[in-house]
Amino acid sequence: MQIFIFDTPEAASRAAGEYVNAEIRKNPKLVLGLATGSTPLGLYKEMAEACKAGLDYSQVRSFNLDEYYGLQPDHPQSYRRFMNENLFDHLNIDKANTRVPDGTAADPAAFCAEYEAAMKAAGGVDIQVLGIGSDGHIGFNEPGSSLVSRTRVVALTPQTISDNARFFEKADDVPRKAISMGVGTIMEAKTCLMLCFGANKATAVQGMIEGGITQFNPASILQMHPDTRVYLDEAAASKLTLKDYYKWAGSCGL
Ligand code: PGA
Repeated sequence: MQIFIFDTPEAASRAAGEYVNAEIRKNPKLVLGLATGSTPLGLYKEMAEACKAGLDYSQVRSFNLDEYYGLQPDHPQSYRRFMNENLFDHLNIDKANTRVPDGTAADPAAFCAEYEAAMKAAGGVDIQVLGIGSDGHIGFNEPGSSLVSRTRVVALTPQTISDNARFFEKADDVPRKAISMGVGTIMEAKTCLMLCFGANKATAVQGMIEGGITQFNPASILQMHPDTRVYLDEAAASKLTLKDYYKWAGSCGL
């Protein structure tokens, strides 16, 4: 894991954006794994600005981590709608090449198998953007998820439902289930790009980076990933025992 600590989420998002945009310059057919939530919005802004300035996203393909189960794609809180409004509408990407799990699939098991096959057929995900839940989840892989799990229907925890209730009128409106890439699916991305901001993530972040590898903090499996880049703000980094060392290593150019 490479740990990058910044004073603000804006500075972290800028650095993550520079990384993603540089990779797209090198490989215009890059396959992105994408995430929703508040955390990646700064990164998506950087991508949109680069595209406006001439970076070509027309051949980029993407697969999103998850989608609420039972929401129509045009539901105001669906992740398909979130991605269109916050990223795809601001890029010259071909929307036909952007995939978000289908929360309305009549046969979810068949859908999940097809989604995995489509990722493979695309050559696998090159860069997987990730956020962390306050409970350590990645995608909607909640604590207790198998660390080798694949794309499937999952049940959200009460913690996640309460964290996400801010986007809905009331907590009761938050779907109880989702379709999510599995932990094992995420681990197959060539690079994982994890963004974590805010004090409410500090405990989960400490567990992810410095705790034992455990299904109780699914993000901790990223310690076993060969190329994970973690972008933190000071608040999210505040509980790291070796914070000064990570900063020192960064100042040495690592
Ligand atoms: P957030 O969600 O970016 O809205 O904090 C992250 C997550 O739950 O994975």
